Amino acid sequence: LASIEVDVASLEPGMSLTVKWRGKPIFIRNRTPEEVKAAADVPVSDLKDPAARNANLPAEAQATGVDRSGGEGKENWIVMVGTCTHLGCVPLGQAGEYNGWFCPCHGSVYDTAGRIRKGPAPENLAIPTFSFVSDTKIKIG
Ligand code: FES
Repeated sequence: LASIEVDVASLEPGMSLTVKWRGKPIFIRNRTPEEVKAAADVPVSDLKDPAARNANLPAEAQATGVDRSGGEGKENWIVMVGTCTHLGCVPLGQAGEYNGWFCPCHGSVYDTAGRIRKGPAPENLAIPTFSFVSDTKIKIG
């Protein structure tokens, strides 16, 4: 299947789920306003990987809070490939120093926008092609 649709109506702020797409785990998280703000407040110049790594944006897009999210008006939504950019383990959600994701294999720490902040991983978690087909349904792929 090239694409899937995921119903996210039951995901309250602070909740997340993982679905499979093309054999990969996809993390979907409805961030709280505090989590959105924490990510938005970080200057891109502080980031190890300043690139958005967002398949929905041009390659030169920066890893701002909004460009790592569902976009303007949908900043609360995070959709990412759940594969650590170090050696491919699956990071744990709502974990680590930034309460984003933590990779237990070698200790990479990602923030609430899935950006690499500490540890050996070189890149932010990848954002796949996705879009909202309605307010509560996300199409991935
Ligand atoms: Fe995640 Fe090594 S695979 S830190």
